[in-house]
Amino acid sequence: MENDKGVDSLEKIFINGGEPLRGEVTIGGAKNAVLALLSATILAKDTCRIQNIPNISDVSIMLHILSQLGADVRRVGKHTVEINTKYFNSGVVPQELTKPFRASYYLLGALFGRFGHARVAMPGGCDFGVRPIDQHIRGFEMLGASVVFEENAVIALQSEQPVGNLIYLDVVSVGATVNIMLAAVRARGVTIIENAAKEPHVVDLANFLNSMGADVRGAGTDVVKIHGVKELHGCEYTTIPDQIEVGTYMVAAAATGGRVLIRNVIPKHMESITAKLLECGVDVQENDDSLLVAAPRRLQRCKIKTMPHPGFPTDMQPQFGAMLSAAEGTSILSEGIFDNRFRYMDQLVRMGAQIKVDGKVAVIEGVQQLKGAQIKAYDLRAGAAMVIAGLSAQGTTEIENIEFIDRGYEEIVSKLQGLGADIRRKEVREAAQEKAVS
Ligand code: EPZ
Repeated sequence: MENDKGVDSLEKIFINGGEPLRGEVTIGGAKNAVLALLSATILAKDTCRIQNIPNISDVSIMLHILSQLGADVRRVGKHTVEINTKYFNSGVVPQELTKPFRASYYLLGALFGRFGHARVAMPGGCDFGVRPIDQHIRGFEMLGASVVFEENAVIALQSEQPVGNLIYLDVVSVGATVNIMLAAVRARGVTIIENAAKEPHVVDLANFLNSMGADVRGAGTDVVKIHGVKELHGCEYTTIPDQIEVGTYMVAAAATGGRVLIRNVIPKHMESITAKLLECGVDVQENDDSLLVAAPRRLQRCKIKTMPHPGFPTDMQPQFGAMLSAAEGTSILSEGIFDNRFRYMDQLVRMGAQIKVDGKVAVIEGVQQLKGAQIKAYDLRAGAAMVIAGLSAQGTTEIENIEFIDRGYEEIVSKLQGLGADIRRKEVREAAQEKAVS
C-alpha cells in the first residue's frame, strides 16, 4: 500500500519470544455471533442495541455494509452499537461490499426473511479450499425461494414470502443454520432444521432473535424449530464472549509455560479445548466467568480431530499446531471440517518445526523449541497461530499480513504486552524507489 511519498508501507508484528506470559486478560464479544446478530437487525424496522461488540475489522466491514444499504448505524462507545434498519433498501449487494469476508452471505437470509427477495454477491472469506454454499441455497429453496445465479456472482432469491418447511442439512454447517434461521423467523408457518449446527454463536443468534419477538426453539441441539411471526421489534442485547479468542489466549499461555487469568469467559463453551490442554499437562482452573491457565515449561503431545460443536473447534486447530510443535512427543491433528487448513504449517517449518502433512492429517514431531523467523499470516486463525509460535520461540519473529489477525482479535498486541510479551507492531516502510533501483 503506497502512502503519499510513493513509499510502500506495511505493518508487521515483531516478537522477541521465549518468555512465559503472566497476568490477566479480558476477552471481547464473539465475532461469529456478532456478524449474525448484525445481519439479523435487518429483520426489524426498529432500533436494536447490541453490547459487548468486539472492535475488529470484520465488524467494521459489516457495519459499513449495513449503513451503505440504508441502516442508521450509531456507535455508542467502543463496544456498543445501535442499528435501525427501518429505511433499508433491498437492492443488489455488490461484490465490492461482500468480497472482504464470508459472513456477508448472511445478508441473503436476512434480506429474504424481511423482503421475500434478495440479491447478494457471493462472499469472500478465509481460503481453506472449496467452501460451497449448497446447503444455504437448498435451505432457501425449501423455504419457497426461486434461486437465480446472475452475472457478477450475484445470487438472487425470489418468492412471495418464505414458507416454513422441514429442512435436513446434508452437512452440519454453521453458516447454513444461521442463514436459514434468518430467513425463517418471519416465514409463514413452521420451519424445522434437522442436523443443525450447535455452536455457541448459533445459540446466541436464537436468543437475539427471540428477544426481537421471534419464536426459535432448540438452538444448541441438532433440531431447531422456528414458528414464523409477522413482525419483529427492536431489542437490547449483550453478545457472548468469543470462544475462539478465549481459546487462543489459553493456548498462548500454555505454549509459553505461563500463568494467565482469562476473564469474560463461559467455561462451558471451552470444554473441548480445556480437555485437550489438560491432556497436554496444562492446569486449567474454572471459575464462574474466568479461567486460570498455568502451564509447565514443556507440554505433552496430544491427538486432535476437529469436529462440529461440541467437538474440538476447527478454528482452534492452527493455534494447537503452533503449540504442539514444541511439545514432547508426536502429536496428530486431523482436520475434520475443511479441505485444506494446514497451509500455515509451512511457516512453522521455517521456525524449525518438524511436521508432515498428508491430506487432512498432520503429524507433528515436537522439537525442543521453535526458532524466530520471518513468517506470514495466511488467514485469521493461522495468523493467531503465528503469534503463538513467535511468543514461544527463541529469538525474534517478524509476521507480515497481520491485517488478517486484526479481522478477529481486538488489540492483540496490547493485550499480549499486558501479559508481559515483548511484542510490537511496526510500520515497515520499504522505499518503492529503492526497490525500483536495486
Ligand atoms: C463458520 O464458517 C465460521 N465463520 C468459521 O470461522 C468456522 O471455521 C466454521 O463456521 C466452522 O465452525 C463464521 O461464522 C463467519 P460451515 P462457515 O458452513 O459457516 C461445508 C473464523 O476464523 N459446507 O460450518 O463457512 C464447508 O465446506 C472462521 O472465525 C458445505 O459443504 O462454515 C465445511 O467443510 C473461519 N456446504 C463444513 O461444511 C455449505 O453450504 C462446515 O462449514 C456450507 C458448508
